[in-house]
Amino acid sequence: MKIGAYYYPEQWPQDQWERDFDRMAAIGLQIVHMSEFAWFSLEPHANEFRFEWLDRCVEMARRRHMQVILCTPTAAPPVWLIDEHPEILPRDEHGTPFRFGGRRHYSPTAPAMLEASIRIVTAMAQHFAERENVIGWQIDNELGSPRPGKFDQNEHAHVAFRRWLQQKYGTIENLNRAWGNQFWNTYYTTFGQILLAPSSDAGYGNPHHVLDSSRFWSRAHADFATLQANILKQHVGSRFITTNFMPFYPDIDPGDVADDLSLMSWDSYPVTGREANPQDDHFRIADPAAIGFVHDQMASYGKPWALMELQPGHVNWSGYPVMPYPGAIRLWIWTALAHGAEFVTTYRFRQPRFGIEMFHDGLVETDGVTPSSPGGLQFTQVIDELKRIDHARWKSDAALIDSKRTIGLLFDFEQLWWFNTLPQAKRWIQPRFLQLWYAAVTRLGLEVKILHPQRAWPAELKFIVAPGLQMVDDDDVRKLHEFADRGGHLVLTCRTALMDRTGQMFEGKVAQPILDLIGGEIEAYDSLPPEKWANVELDGKLHRWGVWGDLMYAAPDAKVLAKYADQFYAGAAAVIQCRRSNGGAVTYCGVHGEQSLTDALMEKLAAQAGLTTTPLPSRVQLMRRGPYRVLLNYQDTVFNAPAPRGARFVVGSRRVDPAGVAIWEE
Ligand code: GAL
Repeated sequence: MKIGAYYYPEQWPQDQWERDFDRMAAIGLQIVHMSEFAWFSLEPHANEFRFEWLDRCVEMARRRHMQVILCTPTAAPPVWLIDEHPEILPRDEHGTPFRFGGRRHYSPTAPAMLEASIRIVTAMAQHFAERENVIGWQIDNELGSPRPGKFDQNEHAHVAFRRWLQQKYGTIENLNRAWGNQFWNTYYTTFGQILLAPSSDAGYGNPHHVLDSSRFWSRAHADFATLQANILKQHVGSRFITTNFMPFYPDIDPGDVADDLSLMSWDSYPVTGREANPQDDHFRIADPAAIGFVHDQMASYGKPWALMELQPGHVNWSGYPVMPYPGAIRLWIWTALAHGAEFVTTYRFRQPRFGIEMFHDGLVETDGVTPSSPGGLQFTQVIDELKRIDHARWKSDAALIDSKRTIGLLFDFEQLWWFNTLPQAKRWIQPRFLQLWYAAVTRLGLEVKILHPQRAWPAELKFIVAPGLQMVDDDDVRKLHEFADRGGHLVLTCRTALMDRTGQMFEGKVAQPILDLIGGEIEAYDSLPPEKWANVELDGKLHRWGVWGDLMYAAPDAKVLAKYADQFYAGAAAVIQCRRSNGGAVTYCGVHGEQSLTDALMEKLAAQAGLTTTPLPSRVQLMRRGPYRVLLNYQDTVFNAPAPRGARFVVGSRRVDPAGVAIWEE
């Protein structure tokens, strides 16, 4: 477990570099990233490489026993490349190209961009291959379009899309069927007539076309990363290859490229100040479910993973630059480590003096020396605390799955695209729905394994929640059946199995493919206007809902667990359950409740399934790492750690401050 930061030597006078490295070493940083965005400094003219400055910096790091992550600089194509090949700039639907002068101004389908990227990545990989203190490579930075969900409209993008469609569908008749082109007579007669959709918003056009556009766009970014990964692999030996993802960013599904990387990583900026009308201080501490979900997602691809960028203090881009709560940054670092991160690094070491991000904090201020408050000081604190942990013991049981303490949570990136493109209910935000379940599970002291439809599910899992699996294919349905038939506890929710993977509804009853699993039928659904709430009753308590509610009929062998408590359909079933003779159960939660309903239902189901729970207040998480127990307090109040008498605290103490951390051995 290591700590580090990004450093941009090209942004500082050369005579300060030694001093900056001294400062990094004095803070105790073990990792430094360089060369991100530095394409121009590395190749000021086509095919003229300047690596001496980076050589010197890698050497400065080595002399201070610091490891280096080198970044391929492709997120910022230089001006000479754009001059020569303006078609690299993505175009919008009016044909207007994105402007040079920032970053991410390229389309991953532009042949000239691919060619120039191959050249710079090959040259760097060859040149730096043998440097002993280079531990890994980061490809690009936050792959995706400069405008999320906008697909390039250059001719090369349309051509690449058509090629992808042709491979997928073979014939234009197949495509017409999959896209439902009978609707409004939108038949195509050749692939050449088809354009890549301009954005993930279907407007009032064809949503199936847009869904395939999202899939293709993700594939195009993934292929761009794979192209670079394949070059690096030829040269860099056992050094890791990664790229840093943004959470739920629609332009690339990490699963599309995970198998070509050797380490997964993501960027976390938990406090943005964007909460409307906060009633307490939680907006300064962040949401542990939102953070934890992505950590567990990164772990779910079967590779080591890391937190590549962690917010070090104020950010410049949110518009509400709140100061994080005292201790919050330390809390986020420990959260990542407790979830199993290999390392945590931050953007950035030194606050910039110029450019759009000059209000962005670093670990030290613009002078390169003064530790920033609060971030710099808290990073230093964790570096010190890490010395008290036996790292080998911390990791000793990382691969074990305790089926009494672990729940599988199904996450399917495709559904994000589809819910965005065709939300039906504007209040339905799929990442939020996933996080509600994640929070309900982790509140019980349980761990989460994120599962993907097409990847293997660990056989140890006895309890799986699958929120909003709206599109399914035969394999998905088979896997759900098999899990239930093995005696598993399965939770399905509203908006499951409504459509096949083209996004077309099934011909039959609502959710036809799972009706035999859930033991009931869905008669109708309701969804409420903004800010309107209604109630569901579970075990004598009322819980509010507003996003979506299925009105259910339960079959005779199913049990109604919760009912709607008001509206003209009061008394209709909202949650039903079929217990199985094999000891398992299938629960269908037909209502998209808010946190209290999800918490209460999850607690009830976990007890039924005999899981070992430690119920905690919301926003408090208890993690297990080898013999260590890590208590993460995301509340703005003090919490007393549930440690046994005489437990040896290695970090913090039993009384855990707001935004505090305690670690003890059991
Ligand atoms: C990240 C990006 C960094 C920096 C940072 C600012 O999304 O990868 O390069 O811009 O945001 O918070």
